Amino acid sequence: MFKKIFSGVQPTGNLHLGNYLGAIKNFVDLNNDSKNDCIFCVVDLHAITVKQDKDQLTNNIRETAATFIASGIDPSKSIIFSQSKVHAHAEGSWILSCMAPMGWLNRMTQFKEKAGKDKERASVGLYIYPILMASDILLYDTTHVPVGEDQKQHLELTRDIAQKFNKDFDCEDFLRVPEPLIKKDFSRIMSLKDGLKKMSKSDPSDLSRINLTDTKDEIINKIKKAKTDSLPIPNEYQKLKDRSEAKNLLGIYSSISDQTLDKTLEEFGGKNFSDLKSQLAEVLSSKIFPISDEIKKLIKDQNYLDKVLAEGANKAEEMAGKKIKEMKKIIGF
Ligand code: TYM
Repeated sequence: MFKKIFSGVQPTGNLHLGNYLGAIKNFVDLNNDSKNDCIFCVVDLHAITVKQDKDQLTNNIRETAATFIASGIDPSKSIIFSQSKVHAHAEGSWILSCMAPMGWLNRMTQFKEKAGKDKERASVGLYIYPILMASDILLYDTTHVPVGEDQKQHLELTRDIAQKFNKDFDCEDFLRVPEPLIKKDFSRIMSLKDGLKKMSKSDPSDLSRINLTDTKDEIINKIKKAKTDSLPIPNEYQKLKDRSEAKNLLGIYSSISDQTLDKTLEEFGGKNFSDLKSQLAEVLSSKIFPISDEIKKLIKDQNYLDKVLAEGANKAEEMAGKKIKEMKKIIGF
């Protein structure tokens, strides 16, 4: 079946194993299937919903594009571009924000988590961030959106907004209602230090995550220090209940080795965590280190990265520009 894929990653630095296993690895598989049309966006407008250093932002935009390419996305097959270069995203976001009721946005749990206790001081941009995400997706007639579990609620909102627009303006199917693509067992990679907390770029402890720019020694050291429990590894999924750290390490091993959790439990059931950790460190360093090495090489070739982003923006502009034009006509502009 033909799929039109759109997804985005924020250029906020420290891209980690959660971003890779939850999203980027799936982008690569989708890019490799010739039946798909894929668009991967460096969502820099989303990044500025919290304060960014100007020079660092510029570097992080290039580094995110480099991470896509180093992971295996081929810019001659898929479109790679940065969101701020295509005007239609911001324009679409404004139009959709005039359709979406506040009540829908008030339900967004990620805003509550990110704004923390002092939500009066959070930017308006952070609050309406899911609408910009809806605009990103809907401008390209996207059929499928590969993301990690934490974006599920934003995708449900995108679907609701699309349906409301189509109904309000009596234009059935104008905005395509997209399907999420969320990998069942591996869509929420947890911190290496606390199995109840998501692996995140904002965690102050670098030991909580494997960065996609880590060296082999750093990867081995972080896995060695990852939290576990004192019981042996079980051989059944049900016995992983309430053992979040064990479940996370087994999940990471399965995902990076492209095998089911059941197969991993078969492999390690009855063994100690030291066995799992040494195998995990090995497989992670063999898969992540080449990416990290390639990112470092690509980042030195700014001209190449800027060319990929510029060509991608031209192609994206053509599609999104057409859609926004039709959208404005429907509204009466
Ligand atoms: P962002 O930049 O926070 O994360 C990029 C992708 O990585 C996934 N992810 C994880 N997956 C599993 N375990 C984790 N610990 C983990 N941490 C992050 C995210 O689910 C995401 O898929 N709002 C989005 C970016 C965005 C977007 C879009 C995505 C903007 N417009 C349109 C899809 C379509 C975000 O902040 O992702």
